[in-house]
This record gives sequence, C-alpha cells and structure tokens, in this order.
Amino acid sequence: MDNLLLLIPHLLLMISLNMVFSFGNLNRDFEITWGDGRAQILSSGELLTLSLDKASGSGFQSKKEYLFGKIDMQLKLVPGNSAGTVTAYYLSSKGSAWDEIDFEFLGNLSGDPYILHTNVFSQGKGNREQQFYLWFDPTADFHTYSILWNPKRIIFYVDGTPIREFKNLESKGVPFPKKQPMRIYSSLWNADDWATRGGLVKTDWSQAPFTASYRNFNAATKGAGWPSQELDAASQERLQWVQKNYMIYNYCTDTKRFPQGFPLECTTTTT
Ligand SMILES: *[C@@H]1O[C@H](CO)[C@@H](O)[C@H](O)[C@H]1NC(C)=O
Repeated sequence: MDNLLLLIPHLLLMISLNMVFSFGNLNRDFEITWGDGRAQILSSGELLTLSLDKASGSGFQSKKEYLFGKIDMQLKLVPGNSAGTVTAYYLSSKGSAWDEIDFEFLGNLSGDPYILHTNVFSQGKGNREQQFYLWFDPTADFHTYSILWNPKRIIFYVDGTPIREFKNLESKGVPFPKKQPMRIYSSLWNADDWATRGGLVKTDWSQAPFTASYRNFNAATKGAGWPSQELDAASQERLQWVQKNYMIYNYCTDTKRFPQGFPLECTTTTT
C-alpha cells in the first residue's frame, strides 16, 4: 500500500510529461502514404520505419499542415551499403508556386560518408543546394534533424547544431516562404541514377530491404522564444564550424553554375 502511494506522484508526472511532449505520437501525427506495407508505424506509435526493395520504396506524410514552427525528428538512416538510396525528409506546400524546405540523405557504400543535401524552394523556385558531410555515422544511432521556420528565417539543425540559415530577404527581392502552410513528407527511394558519386555507384539489391527509422517527432508551433528565434553568437560560431569543415557544396560559390552572377541571397549579408 505504502509503495503504491509512493508511486502516485511518479505516475502523475509521467502522465503530464506525456501530455506536454506527446511521446509515441507517430500514429496521431502521420499517415503512411505509399509503399504497400513497406512503411510501418510500430511500438504503439513510437517508431516509424520506411523500407525499400527492388519493387518499391515507401513514404509517409503529416496529417497536419504547419505555417511556421520548430519541427524535430530523430532519424536513423539505412546502414551498411546504402549506395543508391535516398531518404528524403522535407516540408512542402502544394501547387505550382510551392514552397519547400528539404533534407535529403544520399546513401553510400559501407564506411563511406552519406551526403546531407539541403534546399529551399520559394514560390516554385529552388536551385539553392547546400551539401554536407556529417560529423558522426548517421546509421549507428538516431540523431535529431530540425527545421526552424519563422517569418524571418529558416534554420536547419543537426543535433541542435545549426548547419544552414536562409534569411528572409524579401526587402532585397528574394521571395521567402511565409504564406503557404506545409506538410511534412518523407520517403525512401532508389535514386542510383544520381545519388552516390553522381550515379556511378548503383544500388546493391542483394542488400535489400533497406530500412530507415524515425522517432521522437515534435512540432512546436507556438511558445516563448521560437517565433523570433535567431542565432546567438555561440550558434553562429557552430554554424561557421560546420560550414567550414563539413560543407562540400554551396550553390552560392558555384561560379560555373551562375556565370551571370550569383542569386541575390548569396551576395547580401543583411536581413
Ligand atoms: C561517398 O563516398 C565517396 C568517397 O568517399 C565520396 O566522394 C562521396 O561524396 C560519398 N557520398 C555520396 C553520397 O556519394
């Protein structure tokens, strides 16, 4: 009896934590959209897995749309020889003038690095690729990939470290996504015509099915701090560190691609 009474505060705490952080909510927040059984929500909503075999990939999307937010998800990518596979995780609106904020993970041979590919589309126009290596093995464990999207900026984070910032430069004539609500989408598919070393390394189907896993989704759509959140000095330093040491492609420095001059957002530093 005594023991039971002692447990009550713990139970209450767990119940309220559950309400605040909504653990195990993947069933509530997402629906499987394709893949004919290859995508699954498991452990009563705590885990989602996507898989890919020769016949098909798979995918899911959020039930809700979001207009601004801080969206966190933990992903564990296809391990081993994942060459040719792409795990896309992104926000997107609909229509021909859509907005989109992308993370894409390009697989590789065992032991060779994944590429984290990012892009931002506003009103149907993208071409803003930046690519990174990661400072850890993204297949060994879950890591948190986040998108902070507010009216002033979009920030991509990996485990809380900012890797890319796209500022609202509408005042300079650069369209910024801020009117169209977006859904979260993810898919695992075969892109061996381009993904690994530019398409040189093909998917090894003897390793199929390939599986990527998701957990601990959280979307903060309001709350103190985030609507105007910007990078403080320490975060700026982290961002510089990633860009200096892990960025392998930046459209803003690709002179061959933009012989007529770089896109406006590349040459402007003020907000
Ligand atoms: C795969 O590994 C090769 C060799 O290390 C590297 O050049 C390439 O960037 C890696 N990633 C992808 C997705 O091709």
